[in-house]
Amino acid sequence: MLKPKETPSNFADLPFTRMRRRRSSDAMRAILRENHLRPEDMIYPLFIEEEITERAAISSMPGVYRETERSFVPIIQQAQKDGIKSVILFGVSRHKDHEGSDSFKRGGLLDRIVKRAKDSCPEMVIIADACFCEYTDHGHCGPLTQHGEVDNDRTIENIAKQAVVAAAAGADVIAPSGMMDGQVRSIRNALDENGFTNTAIMAYAAKYASGFYGPFREAAGCGLGKGNRKTYQMDPANGNEALQETALDIEEGADMVMVKPGLPYLDILWRVKEAFQMPTFVYNVSGEYAMLKAAAEKGWLDYDTAMMEMLISFKRAGADGILTYCALDAAKILNE
Ligand code: PBG
Repeated sequence: MLKPKETPSNFADLPFTRMRRRRSSDAMRAILRENHLRPEDMIYPLFIEEEITERAAISSMPGVYRETERSFVPIIQQAQKDGIKSVILFGVSRHKDHEGSDSFKRGGLLDRIVKRAKDSCPEMVIIADACFCEYTDHGHCGPLTQHGEVDNDRTIENIAKQAVVAAAAGADVIAPSGMMDGQVRSIRNALDENGFTNTAIMAYAAKYASGFYGPFREAAGCGLGKGNRKTYQMDPANGNEALQETALDIEEGADMVMVKPGLPYLDILWRVKEAFQMPTFVYNVSGEYAMLKAAAEKGWLDYDTAMMEMLISFKRAGADGILTYCALDAAKILNE
């Protein structure tokens, strides 16, 4: 405590730089804010199931539905009104086989949903997730060898066909998520050979074998009969490897790269952005959304506050954009 008769030298013990001056009002905080979240920073994922007549709730992802081939259209239109500029589409197939061939058939589910999305919202950036796990009867991300492993080289041949179907249907961006070696080059070559030189590739460059995809597998109906994805998705213990994976995808022709999941991999996001200075996206995955929703339902977290804090953490860590199931909720708050 300061006493009246003390000499000025004692004032040296008081803080000279006071950081709290910068936080003293809403306006002060606003002019000093370093990072900003805008609706166009978010990409909204949609699940579209064939042969259902009504949208179906996903129990582990409150507020997210498996939409019908019609019901997803007004959702995209609403997203557009809210200022969101891009959606990523996942088909939920009823025509599964060993290879996931419906995904590279003209008239197949992927072809139909991309067409309908593009026709109804031509200004939106339509992203087609390119993978097979939603279309194979065993749930893996490509056809299996006789030893039960995903056959890398057949998968990248098929994924090139899938990418061409999606591009022809109107996809602006192809996002290969299978973590097969050479998949980006295979897609780039096929797109170029077929005249789709303007179709971009957003590579799931550093995608980890994560427990946080659990709710997605219910949503997309792509649980594994047996095994796991550790022979193609990355080991959560590795960081340097993410830089090599990303470097390869850039060399192979990726226009944008992605880190996935988000919250447990903010260090990777930061390192990837620092190392390559590429347009860098992060996938705030189903399990991250489920955690937040579950805690909020129990009254343990305030959903809006925790959500906005989570989303800005991605921007702070270097993300140019965020694929997130929170996109509509967050846009509503931002537009208020
Ligand atoms: C398909 C794919 C998955 C996700 C996106 N694309 C599932 C997986 O790899 O098992 C997960 C997205 C999420 O959990 O929100 N390969």
